Amino acid sequence: MLNLDPYISKTPGFPKQGITFYDISPALEDPRILKQATDALCDLAAPMQPDLIAGIDARGFLFSVPIATRFDCGVVMIRKAGKLPGTLYQSTYALEYDNATLALQHDRNIAGKNIVLCDDLLATGGTLLAARDLISMAGGTVTGAVCLIELTGLKAREKLSFPVASLQSYEF
Ligand code: PRP
Repeated sequence: MLNLDPYISKTPGFPKQGITFYDISPALEDPRILKQATDALCDLAAPMQPDLIAGIDARGFLFSVPIATRFDCGVVMIRKAGKLPGTLYQSTYALEYDNATLALQHDRNIAGKNIVLCDDLLATGGTLLAARDLISMAGGTVTGAVCLIELTGLKAREKLSFPVASLQSYEF
């Protein structure tokens, strides 16, 4: 079982008091751990049978591409507001410490496909729920989500109607 904890830095009080910032940068810069984490995420995503991986802006992008190449499928980007041209689906949600809007282009070819969401961290679940709403608006089905880190104390799983798998858990 992969222990990612030594490769996740923790900064209490960032970006604001009472929040700890979990950073996957040490895992990203270690080639052995990067490969092991990618392999482990692929194992978690396999039962979700993806046709497409949806990477969530910004740190979700990092693992969405290597996972997709493993499944011979493509990647779609779910982006923060203001980053994408064209006609968009948009969903606004509350973050652990802020509000945000995610967007997805109408032009993406999602209808009828099984989509697996990919992000670095699951906290309140607001981001994954907003991403799920965008995929639904586009006619796709979220069959699951994979994350490196999960903050179990925020009980996101109780709100999510699809399977979620993560590699490393912390309470808060
Ligand atoms: C962080 C993280 C997840 C989200 C999880 O994103 O990367 O996307 O929060 O929080 P939630 O489960 O409470 O919704 P952030 O907005 O900091 O984006 P970044 O990846 O661009 O830094």
